[in-house]
Amino acid sequence: SAADKGGWSSFMAKEVSEEPEAVANTVRGRVKDGRISIPELEGLDELFVGIERVVILACGTAYYAGLVGKYAIEKWSRIPVVVELAHEFRYSDPIVSESTLVISISQSGETMDTLMAVKEAARLGAKTLSICNTQGSTIPRESDAVVYTHAGPEVAVASTKAFVAQITALYLFALHIADVRGSLDQAVSDEAVAQLEALPSKIQWILDNEQDRIEQLAGWMADTRSVLFLGRHVGYPIALEGALKLKEISYIHAEGFAAGELKHGPIALVEPGQPVFVVVPSPRGSVTMHQKVISNIEEIRARGARVIAIAEQGDSAVLPSADEVLRIPLASPLFEPLLAVVPLHIFAMGLATAKGLDVDQPRNLAKSVTVE
Ligand code: G6P
Repeated sequence: SAADKGGWSSFMAKEVSEEPEAVANTVRGRVKDGRISIPELEGLDELFVGIERVVILACGTAYYAGLVGKYAIEKWSRIPVVVELAHEFRYSDPIVSESTLVISISQSGETMDTLMAVKEAARLGAKTLSICNTQGSTIPRESDAVVYTHAGPEVAVASTKAFVAQITALYLFALHIADVRGSLDQAVSDEAVAQLEALPSKIQWILDNEQDRIEQLAGWMADTRSVLFLGRHVGYPIALEGALKLKEISYIHAEGFAAGELKHGPIALVEPGQPVFVVVPSPRGSVTMHQKVISNIEEIRARGARVIAIAEQGDSAVLPSADEVLRIPLASPLFEPLLAVVPLHIFAMGLATAKGLDVDQPRNLAKSVTVE
């Protein structure tokens, strides 16, 4: 009913508006005296001390959160991480042992593909940790440990606020496991916590200042037949998520690519008028990566692409060759995905709405897929 939607036109609109609190609530209560302290993990240090390898398993949007999380876990703990689709992992004769930590990510905690993969990993001796949004659901019950995301109930089939909460929880856990293993530099931890705590107001800034313009842009693009998304490093999974969201709710062909892969194939798709979203990394992170993505924009623009850049405030290098620039506030590079994804969620929702579609209940999809 309209009451449950709290006055919003759809659950998805309500849930996108709740992205700031999803992050804030996931951080809340997990930082004590400047240290990461996750109540659910108290007394479980021995699970993580001897870990030599991390395998992240998930499906759909949760898998993309895992791809983002890999960068943070590797950066802060220096433990190698692989991210696999749960259904691919299970039947791959996987190599895991007692020194492997399998982290599953699931909003519902009931996705059968993910559950069966976790059970298989446990059978093979791995330690298992669940990142989950639903208290008491099956995957956390089948795992050695759980870190809950506190995004609140998510009703729309396409996941939005749960995604930002999943990345937040993965980052908190990345700091935690680095700390448990004695490899966490306090200054790095302090900076990461400050970045996490600053995110909600930055996401709110995007909603307050860019949402109307993004929805207008989506409205103009209602007849578009194909949209491409490019990103690099942590921006790559965000490109994949932007494409998935558009497919799921607007039924438009959409594909995400690693920007560096452009010249190895995808550039052949670019013809005059082709819309391409480009997630531009901050020049404050890596000047080289920033320049390379700017070059990608120039290359596709020269072939007639219509470029919509998502770039931090003040990045003027995007101006000469982007047709549209959607701005996000400044953040440290690892935290940019939590901002860059917001315009893409708004865009997918805006385009589906402009096409007159039911954004909460897309055809052929279910919120929680409980069959393998
Ligand atoms: C379904 C939903 C997706 C979701 C995926 C994983 O396919 O339509 O939105 O990302 O399942 O769900 P989970 O509950 O495991 O995060």
